[in-house]
Amino acid sequence: MLWKDNYELGVPQIDAQHKELFRRVESFLQVLRSEDSWEKKLPKLNETLEFMKKYVVEHFHDEEEYQKSINYPGYEAHKQRHMGMVGYVQEVSRKYEQSNYDENLMQEFGGRLLSWLINHVAAEDQLIADYAKKRG
Ligand SMILES: [Fe+2]
Ligand SMILES: [Fe+2]
Repeated sequence: MLWKDNYELGVPQIDAQHKELFRRVESFLQVLRSEDSWEKKLPKLNETLEFMKKYVVEHFHDEEEYQKSINYPGYEAHKQRHMGMVGYVQEVSRKYEQSNYDENLMQEFGGRLLSWLINHVAAEDQLIADYAKKRG
């Protein structure tokens, strides 16, 4: 399991979304790395990709609303990071469709998605919780 309890922010809605993101990315990577043929993997991968495109937008929105509710000073910078990720996911997805579902593109995407998620949730999102605690 890639999720670790110390990633929790203490905000139930956001923590549940983070867990779901980790769960989806993990199963995405399992499918990518499985021995099945690319044709067999495709439906599951495409389904997860479509899910992620919508779910990251929803999650980022909810997390930004939470930041506003506590007057988080890093809100603007954090929002930029989210927008960068949404842009990246959309860009990859577009290239992926244009290439008629290129495997190398998805393999690279899987790795980058995982490292982005861990770095973002374990570092940048944690700063929101640190601020909320300090503020009381
Ligand atoms: Fe987050
Ligand atoms: Fe975030």
